[in-house]
Order: sequence, then C-alpha cells, then structure tokens
Amino acid sequence: MLICHTINEIKSFTRQAASQGKTIGFVPTMGYFHAGHLALMSEAKKTCSVVVSSIFVNPVQFGPQEDFTCYPRDIDRDKRLAVEVGVDAIFIPSVEEMYPPRFSTFVETKKITDCLCGKSRPGHFQGVTTVVTKLFNIIQPDIAFFGQKDFQQAATIRRMAEDLNLKVKIVLVPTVRDKDGLALSSRNIYLEGAQRQAALSIPKSLALAAQAVENGERDPIKVKMAVCNMLAAEPLVEIDYIEIYSLPHLEEISLLQGEVLLAIAAKVGKTRLIDNLVLKIPDNWPIIPNKR
Ligand code: PAF
Repeated sequence: MLICHTINEIKSFTRQAASQGKTIGFVPTMGYFHAGHLALMSEAKKTCSVVVSSIFVNPVQFGPQEDFTCYPRDIDRDKRLAVEVGVDAIFIPSVEEMYPPRFSTFVETKKITDCLCGKSRPGHFQGVTTVVTKLFNIIQPDIAFFGQKDFQQAATIRRMAEDLNLKVKIVLVPTVRDKDGLALSSRNIYLEGAQRQAALSIPKSLALAAQAVENGERDPIKVKMAVCNMLAAEPLVEIDYIEIYSLPHLEEISLLQGEVLLAIAAKVGKTRLIDNLVLKIPDNWPIIPNKR
C-alpha cells in the first residue's frame, strides 16, 4: 500500500491510475479506523479498480470547544487495517499541506445544513465541505463512500457535488453497529463504564420509534416524544436533538409519509454521539378497518 504525505505524491498516483482507465474509489476519513471505516473501504473495493483513503483530522470542522486536539489517532494501526482490506493508497497530509499560511477559501452548502448537526455545530459543515472539495480535487475519484451514521454529512456532500457539477458519485453505506447495537464511532472510546450502557438508549430509542411507525403511528411529534421519553429516562444522556425530516432534502414534515430520517444527537458524559434511522413508510395509510 502506497503512503503519501504530499498532494503531489497522491496526485501522481491517482492521475496515473486514471490514465490507465482505472476507476478510483475514495474513502475520506479522520482515521482511528473501526469496522465502519473498513466497510466503506470494502464497498469501494467491490466497485472500483483502485481504492484510495485519506486520514486527516481536519481542524476547520471542529468548533473551538470541540475535541480536535484529543481526537483519537493511531496511524500505524490504521495502516495495518487498510492493508488488510486491500486499500491501494492512503493520503496522510499534514495540516500545513492542506492549509498553507495564506489559505482563505471556504465552500459552504446552505439550507440542508441549517438543521440537525449544522445547527448544533456552527461552521462544522463548512469545514467538512471545504476539506472534501479539496480532497476530491486532489484525488479526482469516480466514486466516494460515506457512512449512513453521518447522514447529514453525506447528504450535504451529495448536494455540493451536484451543485458544483463535480464528476464524483456519492455512495452511502449502512451504519455498522456493535453487537449491542451502538453505532460504531471513533468517539466511542471516550465512553467510560456506565456511559457505554447509557449510550445504548440511543439505538434502543430508534428501534422503539421504528416499532411505533410499524404499529401505524404517523404523527412525527408523537414518535419524537416516545424517543425523548426513553432518552430522558437515562440520567447520563443529555439530548441535543431528536428530529424527523423528509428525504432526500431534509425538510420539516407534519405527517410521516414516504422516506423520512429520524436523527438523534446526544451527549453521554463529554462524548457527543449521533445516530439515525431511515424509515420507509408504506403509502397505504390510513388503513380503513372493515366495518363489522
Ligand atoms: O466523516 C469524517 O470522518 C469527516 O467528516 C470527513 C468526511 C473525513 C471530512 O473531514
């Protein structure tokens, strides 16, 4: 596996692959790989002839009070795991390589970033879209792979790619969960003792919501209340948001119909966790019971 620290090195690798007619799959990451990252790489491996990943803890997507400096890092372990799934090249730039001293251009996608994490983490998505645009320009991938756990991130990048006429196709890969149901995240290592157990109320509340919808509930407020009650019963969990939006544009709704996103963000101790569920609501509702 090729390791590149400079833009020129990775560019010459990907330009050569493209000139040989190879399709380039790209998995951008901030490292500290878990099975979720590896699932993105394996998916890329299935559909692309060359797989490139990047490891870059992007300072401009972290707020001043967020965990940029202590974000978990283990590059040697990441390299070993990437080799195992057959990644061909990893781009590991320094902050100076990506943001040289006079850097002053930012990419911003509006509307779709007004809600959910865009609202709770001002500036976060501008940092994401800026770095992802740079990475797309450097690597020039045919397909880029993103995890469903960061649904709003993937939707924002898809919007940006369409708006800016980028050639890259954005593929969403299902969230990978631990055996107990917790969505995998590099930040899960911050969870200590009872916090881990408390965090399980997040996937459990998503399951509760899915069940309510399955049972015929079509009022988004009632579904959100059920989720809220379950999370609020857990003293170690501090809710940031519980929201339901229509897909694909993340718009507010007053009735559950079509495809909707139920998204949760909550703090467990100091750790901010997010999770979500896409609900596909059958359009044969309301079912009018037969009169007896
Ligand atoms: O999801 C992430 O790890 C990051 O937000 C990304 C897409 C690599 C941009 O820094």
